[in-house]
Amino acid sequence: MSTFSKENPKEIYESIKRNLSRAVKDRKHSFHTPVFSNINDKNTIESRVVVLRKFDSKDMVLNFHTDFRSPKVADIKRNKNSLFVFYDYKLKVQLRIKTISNLNNQNSLAEEVWGKTKLFSRKCYLTEKPPSSITNVPEDGIDKSLQGKEPNKEESEKGYKNFTVIQNKIEEIDWLYLEASGHRRLKITIKENIENFEWLIP
Ligand SMILES: Cc1cc2nc3c(=O)[nH]c(=O)nc-3n(C[C@H](O)[C@H](O)[C@H](O)COP(=O)(O)O)c2cc1C
Repeated sequence: MSTFSKENPKEIYESIKRNLSRAVKDRKHSFHTPVFSNINDKNTIESRVVVLRKFDSKDMVLNFHTDFRSPKVADIKRNKNSLFVFYDYKLKVQLRIKTISNLNNQNSLAEEVWGKTKLFSRKCYLTEKPPSSITNVPEDGIDKSLQGKEPNKEESEKGYKNFTVIQNKIEEIDWLYLEASGHRRLKITIKENIENFEWLIP
């Protein structure tokens, strides 16, 4: 991000897209694990870290995966407004990205992505009780027969019904660049694939 003009909105926009694309593949990129926030049934905010699984730079969509039984899924059904926060220390950049979330469970997209999901990752979707259930003992919720090992293909398939791809359509990006010589802040609004740029006081 250091080799482009911090005064040129289009170059900034391209650098954001470049870094989001990189972060999907590079597990060490800080943008790989953003904080995702949404509104719960009490109209208060829930935030948590998720793994950025896909960035579609053409349609401007960010994807992550979750368990259909987790409370955030029911919350998103009620209210699709959501927000990602990314921060990278080396880039000195914070991104606050407003999105509209869309759930994919037991449909063609979920099936396609599940097909590419490794057995070890499929294990996350095999808890017997739903995520966030109260338990009397500290445990991971997965059957004892699978403790410390990967499920085989057949065992892993039980997780498919829980596997959910959340697609998040970007509506607005707030880019903040912190630099001793002068901070910069740019608001990018995206409507029907057309970007609008506005400088903000940081
Ligand atoms: C590094 C890291 C990556 C995570 N990735 C995901 C993820 O991709 N999807 C997910 O649902 N939860 C992920 N989690 C767990 C969530 O942060 C959260 O604890 C969990 O989803 C329960 O959230 P909820 O009660 O709001 O539904 C991750 C946690 C960490 C620390």
